[in-house]
Amino acid sequence: MTVADALVDLRSDTVTRPTAGMREAMAAAEVGDDVYGEDPTVNALEAEVAALFGHEAALFAPTGSMANQIALQLVVPPGDELLCDADAHVVTYEIGAAAAYGGISSRTWPAVGADIDPDVVARMVRPDGYFAVPTRAVAVEQTHNRGGGGVIPLATLRELRRVADDNGLALHCDGARIWHAHVADGVPLATYGALFDTLSVCLSKGLGAPVGSLVVGSAERIARARTIRKRMGGGMRQAGVLAAAGRYALAHHVERLAADHAKAARLAEAVAPFGVLATAVRTNLVPLDLSKSPLDAPGLAAAARAEGVLISVLGPRTARLVTHMDVDDDAVDRAAAVLTTILRA
Ligand SMILES: Cc1ncc(COP(=O)(O)O)c(C=O)c1O
Repeated sequence: MTVADALVDLRSDTVTRPTAGMREAMAAAEVGDDVYGEDPTVNALEAEVAALFGHEAALFAPTGSMANQIALQLVVPPGDELLCDADAHVVTYEIGAAAAYGGISSRTWPAVGADIDPDVVARMVRPDGYFAVPTRAVAVEQTHNRGGGGVIPLATLRELRRVADDNGLALHCDGARIWHAHVADGVPLATYGALFDTLSVCLSKGLGAPVGSLVVGSAERIARARTIRKRMGGGMRQAGVLAAAGRYALAHHVERLAADHAKAARLAEAVAPFGVLATAVRTNLVPLDLSKSPLDAPGLAAAARAEGVLISVLGPRTARLVTHMDVDDDAVDRAAAVLTTILRA
């Protein structure tokens, strides 16, 4: 047993390690030079993901951040505007990339997680004109990371599509965890796909692949995306070893997300009696609001770490637990016991 095996790591669903089956698929992958478009495994993954979302094409990228930023550059010209929420990954954790690489001006609606009011978004849209920054696109996050893994309802997305159409805007989905929304709400991936002009989807968040995201869109947009990816330094060579992990993840690790959601619900239930608000847990993220607890988030994280349980600190009184395929039911029970013992003290 390694040190990592002894810990219960609930910081993120990105901490998973490839399974034996995934490693075998990676070792057996047929590869070629993907900058020449000659890696058969990458090409197969791109075709598979495009088809899953009912789009014409997809492009493999090393990270979710790069996939998002390529997509934003596709739909917002330099100097023009993107609308998204104040807690969106694209404006919180991507280090100003939209401005730095795309010259994109971002304006945000107040952070409400998955609970978006399309009328609020509609009222923010600025038309074309020489005196104002024209809005070109709206981005949403499905599921919402800082919004506690919340799932944007299909009806809301349809309303947002209408807002986009009424105003000639593109609609982008940061779908790093769109698989979780698909499993939680039973909405087909193609139904989501039909609502968006561009999507980014991740294979390394909950699906267990070590690396990899895709930009999904029209053939014309994805051809331009290939150039933008190269410009950003994301042209990869024998990337089929990574794409093989992604293909394996799609085949074996999507439907099992329901088990991660159930584990998250159990953790939420365990901490609830201690004044920790972990309500409305829909997927694999459990946000902890410690505003009514004697312990702050760094205090809880330090005490849990001393007992072998790792959690994320998101703010002075906000922490987060994330379930994933490398924490089994026993590990969840162990974590629940550790956290409740600390919170009870
Ligand atoms: C919602 C969301 N989008 C994008 C990303 C970026 O992914 P990466 O870390 O691969 O750049 C993350 C990462 O956790 C995320 O949670």
